[in-house]
Amino acid sequence: MINHFNCFKTTIIRPRVISIDSIDSTNRKTKELLVQGESEGLIVTARTQTAGRGRKDRSWYSPIGGLYFSIALKPRIGPEQAPLLGLLSACAVARGIRSLGVENVRLKWPNDVLVQQHKIAGILSESIQVDDNHLRIVVGIGVNQNCPVSEMSEHLRWPTTSIIDELGKETSIEALLCSIVNEMDELLQAVENDSSYAVVLEEWRRVSSTLGTRVRIYEDEKTTDGIAKDIGEDGSLIVETDEGLMKVVSGDVAHLGGME
Ligand code: BTN
Repeated sequence: MINHFNCFKTTIIRPRVISIDSIDSTNRKTKELLVQGESEGLIVTARTQTAGRGRKDRSWYSPIGGLYFSIALKPRIGPEQAPLLGLLSACAVARGIRSLGVENVRLKWPNDVLVQQHKIAGILSESIQVDDNHLRIVVGIGVNQNCPVSEMSEHLRWPTTSIIDELGKETSIEALLCSIVNEMDELLQAVENDSSYAVVLEEWRRVSSTLGTRVRIYEDEKTTDGIAKDIGEDGSLIVETDEGLMKVVSGDVAHLGGME
């Protein structure tokens, strides 16, 4: 079941890939294997998921043709790393998609990947306590790769695109997986060298389509409008509202358009 891909060029992550044809959710399977003793670098990939999960307990439609994988990582630097590793992963996914020739790839807080305000990839980053002393992060990545939006439309809740729609041709799922993991590794090297996520935060700010935009924040039952000003050191979104600056840690954000 373990596959040895020869396109990984990593120095920190030691990738071990388990490829499955069909599974409920690669995030769930990765967490199960971590609890059984697996460690950083475990990657579970599936051709299709029957119960793929997104943020806020939403489902993630996962037809054959998409890239669906989860990777186990160790937290680095502070204890609460799931949000920052989510931002790091979003930067890596954007780099990977861009390397295939897709243009105008931008990030939406917290970690959606967009092309012209259409979602092309999503990331679900979760923490899991594997024993009394060890926390692990599972980063689950779904990319609309070789599945045209015209074949997914009845399952979609927001404007969506795919790599095949952007490029007009199929691309290699294995190559994109390797490229994203290689980019994650490069960013993790920078984080370890600097003992800081500054490099990631800088790149995220540069590629963001959220910052400077009017946004609507959905937190519990409440909605608040404002201008997205920055992201904090902890990965939170800082929004200027009529009541002053608001720090959004886990809410949902809609872009309302209209620049600052
Ligand atoms: C989102 O945009 O809400 C996040 C979507 C994350 C989907 C991926 S697909 C691989 C991994 N397994 C899951 O069940 N979810 C993530």
